[in-house]
Amino acid sequence: SKEGYPHFMLKEIHEQPFAINSTLAGINEKEFDNVVNLLLNSRKILIIGAGTSYHAGLVGDYLFTTMLGLDTHALISSEYKKYVNAVNEGDTVIAISQSGETIDTLVAVRAFKERGAKVVAISNVIDSAIPRESNYVLYTRAGPEIGVAATKTFTTQLVVLTVLALRAGIAMGRLSQDEYRNLMDSLNKVPGLLQNVITKTEGKVKALSEYMKSRNNAYYLGRGIGVPLSMEGALKLKEIAYIHAEAYPAGESKHGPIALVEEGYPVVFSILDDDNVDALLGNVMEMKARDAYTIGFVPEKYVGKFRELLSVTFELPNIDYRIAPIIYIVPMQLLAYYTAVARGYDPDKPRNLAKTVTVE
Ligand code: F6R
Repeated sequence: SKEGYPHFMLKEIHEQPFAINSTLAGINEKEFDNVVNLLLNSRKILIIGAGTSYHAGLVGDYLFTTMLGLDTHALISSEYKKYVNAVNEGDTVIAISQSGETIDTLVAVRAFKERGAKVVAISNVIDSAIPRESNYVLYTRAGPEIGVAATKTFTTQLVVLTVLALRAGIAMGRLSQDEYRNLMDSLNKVPGLLQNVITKTEGKVKALSEYMKSRNNAYYLGRGIGVPLSMEGALKLKEIAYIHAEAYPAGESKHGPIALVEEGYPVVFSILDDDNVDALLGNVMEMKARDAYTIGFVPEKYVGKFRELLSVTFELPNIDYRIAPIIYIVPMQLLAYYTAVARGYDPDKPRNLAKTVTVE
């Protein structure tokens, strides 16, 4: 039941603090230890998924590569053939699938197993096809997701990948006890922070949807871990509000995409980490100079730096940038939701899309 919400999607967006708590509380220590062991002994790691699950894979790739120095690649499941000859015994494949039934991901799992790789599934559905065919399974505990657009299954996938990266970090000696504890503390704070973010931003998002509803295009720009976050934000807007939305690494925007930007063109910036703040400030200025409608998701500590340049500013908590995407994606989900509703579409049943895709 929708429990009083007009759509499952809105209910599921609001359930995220609870879904994240359940996922953290439901961590299977033994299975995580097994997977950490596997990662420590892996030559190479591929993370595969489709759609939103692929975006979670890109975040995982970012964490594994930067925090652990592991040779990791995120790959769209249906493009697995590129890697078939490059995968061997001693490699690990992490297959992310909310439903556990997406045929593209299942076919890729079979092909990589055939090559001798070990497979770890991350799924929300117990005993679904992909977990059944994998060597190890880490479950998200988001509860059933009815809305076609993935929301709470995405944020809980990020939780599982982050916990995995942190545990592997300790085991590999790449993270000190202090760093590990600080990051775990931040992760444990996410449900509470997210509750506040939803309460604080929902009205502002609704107001922004009145602007977005008459636009034909939008860019989502970020750097570093903000790139997959932008990709997921753009996918949500595209699939339920039917607005053409494209994500780019912000640095790449001046190598082509900026040609389209004119007065009022919405450009959504994800600003997350200290390392990229100055470069992003430059990118926001470039867009502002072309009279773009600049929308920024910004940590509180940088709001002053950006305020003059942004048409709309969302002030978000200061939190380690590796954890921040779990919070930042939520107002973007709400933006897609309210824009779809403002345009008169049913966000639970976007045209042409199925919740589980069972044809290649
Ligand atoms: C987007 C969305 C789809 C799914 C994709 C993979 O909101 O829901 O892009 O993420 O079809 O589905 P799973 O995770 O079930 O393999």
